[in-house]
Amino acid sequence: MAEPAHGPASFCTQANALLRKNLTYQKRNIKTNIRLISFPFVLCLLLVLIQSLVNHELNKASNKCGCKCIDTNGDGQCEKVCGIQYSTVDQVGTCPILSPPEWPPLLQIPAPQYRAVKTDFTPFNDLPNDSCRRTGSCPATILFTGNNQSLGEILLGNMVPNSFTLNSSDVLVSLAQNVLGSASWPNLYNYLDPAFFSDQPVYEVQQQCTGNSSSSVTIQQSSLTFQQDVSCAQGLRSWRNSSLAVNDELYKGYRKGNQERQINEVVAGYDFLNTNSNNFNVSIWYNSTYKNDTGNAPISLVRVGRSVNLASNAYLQFLLGPATKMLFEFVKETPQPETEVRLDLSSLLGTLFFTWVIIQLFPVVLSALVYEKEQKLRIMMKMHGLGDGPYWLISYAYFLSISSIYMLCFVIFGSVIGLKFFTLNDYSIQFVFYFIYINLQISLAFLVAAFFSNVKTATVVGYICVFGSGLLGGFLFQFFVEDTSFPRGWIIVLELYPGFSLYRGLYEFAQYSFTGDYMGTHGMRWGDLSDSKNGMKDVLIIMVVEWLVVLFVAYYIDQVTSSVSGKSRMFLFERFQKKRTPSFRRPSLPRQGSKVFVQMEKPDVSQEREKVEQLLLEPSTDYAIVCDNLKKVYPGRDGNPDKFAVRGLSLALPPGECFGMLGPNGAGKTSFISMMIGLTKPTSGTAYVQGLDIQTHMDGIYTSMGVCPQHDLLWETLTGWEHLLFYGRLKNLKGSALTQAVEESLKSVNLFYGGVAEKQAGKYSGGMKRRLSVAISLIGDPKVVYMDEPSTGLDPASRNNLWKVVKHAKQDRAIILTTHSMEEAEVLCDRLGIFVDGSLQCIGNPKELKARYGGSYVFTMTTSSTYEEEVENMVQHLSPGAKRIYQISGTQKFELPKHEVKIADVFQAVENAKSRFTVHAWGLADTTLEDVFIKVARGAQAFNVLS
Ligand SMILES: *[C@@H]1O[C@H](CO)[C@@H](O)[C@H](O)[C@H]1NC(C)=O
Ligand SMILES: *[C@@H]1O[C@H](CO)[C@@H](O)[C@H](O)[C@H]1NC(C)=O
Ligand SMILES: *[C@@H]1O[C@H](CO)[C@@H](O)[C@H](O)[C@H]1NC(C)=O
Ligand SMILES: *[C@@H]1O[C@H](CO)[C@@H](O)[C@H](O)[C@H]1NC(C)=O
Ligand SMILES: *[C@@H]1O[C@H](CO)[C@@H](O)[C@H](O)[C@H]1NC(C)=O
Repeated sequence: MAEPAHGPASFCTQANALLRKNLTYQKRNIKTNIRLISFPFVLCLLLVLIQSLVNHELNKASNKCGCKCIDTNGDGQCEKVCGIQYSTVDQVGTCPILSPPEWPPLLQIPAPQYRAVKTDFTPFNDLPNDSCRRTGSCPATILFTGNNQSLGEILLGNMVPNSFTLNSSDVLVSLAQNVLGSASWPNLYNYLDPAFFSDQPVYEVQQQCTGNSSSSVTIQQSSLTFQQDVSCAQGLRSWRNSSLAVNDELYKGYRKGNQERQINEVVAGYDFLNTNSNNFNVSIWYNSTYKNDTGNAPISLVRVGRSVNLASNAYLQFLLGPATKMLFEFVKETPQPETEVRLDLSSLLGTLFFTWVIIQLFPVVLSALVYEKEQKLRIMMKMHGLGDGPYWLISYAYFLSISSIYMLCFVIFGSVIGLKFFTLNDYSIQFVFYFIYINLQISLAFLVAAFFSNVKTATVVGYICVFGSGLLGGFLFQFFVEDTSFPRGWIIVLELYPGFSLYRGLYEFAQYSFTGDYMGTHGMRWGDLSDSKNGMKDVLIIMVVEWLVVLFVAYYIDQVTSSVSGKSRMFLFERFQKKRTPSFRRPSLPRQGSKVFVQMEKPDVSQEREKVEQLLLEPSTDYAIVCDNLKKVYPGRDGNPDKFAVRGLSLALPPGECFGMLGPNGAGKTSFISMMIGLTKPTSGTAYVQGLDIQTHMDGIYTSMGVCPQHDLLWETLTGWEHLLFYGRLKNLKGSALTQAVEESLKSVNLFYGGVAEKQAGKYSGGMKRRLSVAISLIGDPKVVYMDEPSTGLDPASRNNLWKVVKHAKQDRAIILTTHSMEEAEVLCDRLGIFVDGSLQCIGNPKELKARYGGSYVFTMTTSSTYEEEVENMVQHLSPGAKRIYQISGTQKFELPKHEVKIADVFQAVENAKSRFTVHAWGLADTTLEDVFIKVARGAQAFNVLS
C-alpha cells in the first residue's frame, strides 16, 4: 500500500466524516423516522376524527330544540313544530327565539342589608340609623348634587313616585310606569331577566312605604305565566354639596371582603352640574361591578338604562309638568335563530396535544445521545481522532435539522387539514417560537444526557417528561395562567421549566386563534406581543436566555465529565495540575517510595527501567512508546486500603515491535491500557507516544492511534464498509486512497467477499465483529495500536487469519497486545511481559523467557500403580535432580533439569522399562510458555502473600 502523506484530519474533514456517518445511520433508521414523523399526523387525524364524532353526537335530537308533531288544521296530517314549549331543559338553549319576551326596565338596587346607613365614616344626618338593617327596612339611597340644590330636589322628587299603582289589564306597561329595581346580578342576555327568576324580590321604589309593603303580581309573557313578589323600597334622596363628597361616600361604602360594617351601597348618584331651565346636564354614577367580566368571560348587561331614563323624565316633567311622560316601556333581546351546540376540540385539546407532539422529540434526541455514550462509541470515535468541536457542531446541527424537518411537516400538515391554530396565527411568529424551542430542547438533551448512561432509563425518563409536562401543563399550569390573582412572578418562575414555556406559547397561539376564529379576524400578529395579557414575549425571552445558558453548561459538563483526553478541563483543577505535570522528557529521578520495590525487581525489568531513563535523557528518539514509571492507584473506599493497579511501569517500545502483555485477571493490564488510551489519568509518572506526553497531548496522540477494545464498539445498523469509511475519514484518508485502504483492510480480515462488507454489523457473528474491530484499529496507518484480547471468541481459522493481519501490520508500528492465549503471544509478540499484581515480573522474547524459567523437561509416565516406585527409581537414575510434580493412580510427572539429561538416554531408559513392566503411556515435553506463565504468576503471588 502506498503510504499516503496524511497529517491529522482537519476540523472540516472530521465534521464531514461524522456527518456522512450520521446520514447513513439515519438512512438505516428509516422505520423509526417514519414512526416519529407519523406521530403528529396520527394525532392531528385523531383530533379531526374525535371532532367529527363529537359533532355527530352533538347533532343528535336530544341536543337540538324539541319538536312535536301536531295536527294543526285537523285533517289528520301532522306537522312538525319546534320550540321552547316542546323542549326539555337541555334542549332549550338551542331553540330559535322568534319573539323574545319583554321585561320591564329595572334599576340596580342594593339588597336591604347593604343599603346606606349613618356610620362613623358617613355621618350624614339624612341617612337612617343602622337599626333598620335588622328589620330589613333600610331605604334605598339616591345621592345627588349639582350647582342648584333646589332644582335637584325638584328633579329627584319627579323621579321617585308617591305610590305604586298597577293596572291588572296591562301589567307590563303599568309596571314600567312605576320604578322597579332588583338586587340580582344581570345576565349576558335578556331572554330571561334573572330579576324575575331569583329568590330575591323585585323592588318598587316610592317616597314612603306603607304598612303592607309586599304584593304579588301575575306576569303573563308570550308562553309563560308566573307570580312575582314585589316589595316596597323607600327611595331616599340625599343631597351632597359636591361631587367629591359623592365620590368619597361611594368609595367608602364599597363592599370589601367580609368587613360587613363598612358596606354602604346606594342606588345611584346624580350630579346635575349646571342644569337650569334652559340646559340639562347630568353625570350618573352606577355600579359597573355588575358587568361581571371576571377573567375572560363576556361582559354582562348592566342595569343603567332606567336610571338615565328617570333623570331625563324628571327634567321633562320639570319643564312641561307632571302629565308629560317619556315611557321606557320594556327591554327586549333581539330574536335568536336556532343554534347548534358546538365544541371546538382543537382549541380545547390542541395545546395539550401539540405540546406532546413537539416535546416528544426530546426523548428521541436524548436516547440517541445516550446510546453513543452507553455503547462507548463517543469515546471510540474520540480515540480515533474525532475532536470535540466537530462532534458538537455536527451532532447539534444534525439534531437541529431533524427537529426542523419534523416541525415543518407538523405545521404544514396541520395547516393543510385546516387547523385554525396554524392558519390564523402569523407563520413568522410560529417559526421563531418553534425554532427557539427546538434549539432549547436539543441543548437540554445534551445537558441531560450527561447524567444518563443507560438508554432505557433515559428513554423512560424522557417519555415521563413528555407526558408529565403535557398533563401538568394542561391541568395545573393553565389554571395558574388563567387565574388573574395568581402572581405573575410565579408564572415566570414556572415557565423556566421548558415544558411549561412551550405549553404557555402554544396556549397563547390557541387563545389568539380561537378568538380570531370567533371574531372572524386573524390570530396572533407581531404587534400583539405587546399585549399585557399575552405571555408570548416573556416565553420567547426566557427560552432564548435559557437556550444559551443550557448550551454553555452542557458543553462545559461534557468537557469535564467525558474528558477522555487525560486532562481535566475543569478550571479549578487546572493550576493544581500544572504543578504536577512533568515537563516534556524530564528524566525520572529515583523516587524514595519505589526503593524497596526496585530492589526486588528482576534484572530484566530493571534493565528496561534503565533503558527508559536513558531514552528520556536523549533529546529525540524514534521509540514509539516510552512509559516512564507509570502508576495508577485507586483510593481505598470504606476503610479499605488503596488499590495499586499499576505500580511504576517502565517500558520502551520501538516501532515495528509487538509487545505482548500477559497476566492473570485483575493484574492491572486494563488499567495500563486505559491510561495509555486516555480513559483514565495516571496517578503519577507519564508516557510518551510518538514523543507526545499522554498527560498533556492526548488529542495529538489520538490522530496516530488505533484501538481494538475488548468489547466490540460498533453501530448495529452500519455495515463493515461504512465503519471503516468513517474511521478512515477520521484518519484523514480521502478519495481513492480511502476506498483502497478500506478495501484492503476488509480483504485482510476476510470480510470483503460474499457481501459481508455490505452486511450490517449487528448481523455479524462474534468473530466477524472482532475482525472488524481489528480492522478499525489498523485503518489509516496508526503508529501505535492497542489490542485488548483481539482473538477471543474466534474459531481457529479466523484466528490464524487475524494473526496474519497483525503480523503484517506490526511491520511499521508499535502494537501493545493483551491476551490470555499463550499460543497467540508466542506467534505474534516480539517481546512479552508478564504482569502480576500491578508490576512487570519479567520481560523478554518468548524464547528467552522459556529458557530462563523453563530449563527443564517434563517427563510423564503412566503405569499400573504397583510399578510407581520402579518408575521413580528409573527417573532418579536418569537425573538426580528430578522433581516429581504430579502423581495420581499410576500417572506421574517429573521435572528433569535440562543440563542433567540427554533425550537419547530417556528413550533408552523407557525401552528398558517397557521390557520389565507394562507402560500404558509416556511422554517427554519441553516447557511451554504456559508453564512459564504459571510459574511466574504463582511465584509473584506467593511473594505478595508473604510480604
Ligand atoms: C335654582 O333653581 C330654581 C328652580 O328652577 C330657580 O328658581 C332658582 O333661581 C335657581 N337658583 C340659582 C341660584 O340659579
Ligand atoms: C287600565 O288599562 C286599560 C288598557 O290600557 C285602560 O283601558 C284602563 O283605563 C286602565 N285603567 C286605569 C284605572 O288606568
Ligand atoms: C359641605 O358639607 C360639609 C359637611 O356636610 C361641610 O363641612 C363643608 O364645608 C361643605 N362644603 C361646601 C363647599 O359647602
Ligand atoms: C357595587 O357592586 C358590588 C357587587 O355587588 C358591591 O360589592 C359593591 O359594594 C357595590 N358598590 C357600591 C358603591 O355600591
Ligand atoms: C359572573 O360570571 C361568571 C361567568 O360568566 C359566573 O359564573 C358568575 O356566577 C357570575 N357572578 C355573579 C355574581 O353572577
